[in-house]
Amino acid sequence: MSTKPILALVSGANRGIGLAIATGLARQGAQVLLGCRDIGKGEAACNALRAEGLPVRPVELDTTSAASVTRLAEMIQQGYGSLDALVNNAGIGVDHDPMLTAADRLRRTMSVNVLGPLLLTDAMVPLLEASGRGCIVNVSSELASFGLRSDPNWAFAGFAMPIYQASKAALNALTLSYAGQLRDRKIKVNAICPGYTATEATNYAGTRTPDQAAVVAIRYALLGEDGPTGSFANEQGALPW
Ligand SMILES: NC(=O)c1ccc[n+]([C@@H]2O[C@H](COP(=O)([O-])OP(=O)(O)OC[C@H]3O[C@@H](n4cnc5c(N)ncnc54)[C@H](OP(=O)(O)O)[C@@H]3O)[C@@H](O)[C@H]2O)c1
Repeated sequence: MSTKPILALVSGANRGIGLAIATGLARQGAQVLLGCRDIGKGEAACNALRAEGLPVRPVELDTTSAASVTRLAEMIQQGYGSLDALVNNAGIGVDHDPMLTAADRLRRTMSVNVLGPLLLTDAMVPLLEASGRGCIVNVSSELASFGLRSDPNWAFAGFAMPIYQASKAALNALTLSYAGQLRDRKIKVNAICPGYTATEATNYAGTRTPDQAAVVAIRYALLGEDGPTGSFANEQGALPW
């Protein structure tokens, strides 16, 4: 009996952790749409993966643009009819950008890290529902965990990116809200932390590789029927909100 491969969409997939998540999902047999702002960068990323024989396709996606998100949802509806996994990975941290005012840092960060996942989730819910096994993974950060932050001995207690941390706390709040709202529609919604990873976002200072960072996101994108919803976790296990 032939089973249909899982269809996954990853936002911000042309580089960093998003590219590693897309690659890992494809290596596990999923058909993967790589959401990229710049389709040329997406094509370049996909060419390398296609050389490995992986079923990947770049799709144009600016998560902060309602028009871009709607166009992609219509394309998936027409081309595939459903979507099994959505990974809200696209994200930025501009707390230390000296060219921006504090207000602009806040607006930009909230737009990409909170509004983007909200727009993309709302647009994809009908397609995820049509799958009957929809999984949404929100790529968050333990830097947003109130539980960890309230411990003065926590390894990152001295870390200060207030706007980024507030944006991921808001994403965590959305995760719980959507998990509750979508439970009856058989869509699981979880937040994960990939860990401190060497990407452009961290000036390659992180201690983990993108492939290591991707493991937990891939696990939550491929959850079975008895998997959790409304949880926050890293590779080691549950994280406090
Ligand atoms: N690296 C870490 O240590 C770490 C730790 C915890 C959580 N995270 C989270 O992990 C996720 C990925 O981070 P990363 O380290 O891989 O960052 P990255 O290398 O800077 O990659 C970010 C990706 O997001 C895309 N993006 C930005 N704005 C977008 C928009 N409006 N629409 C669509 N795509 C957009 C970028 O596209 P362009 O190439 O077009 O800019 C890029 O593909 C983020 O949500 C980040 O907050 C990272």
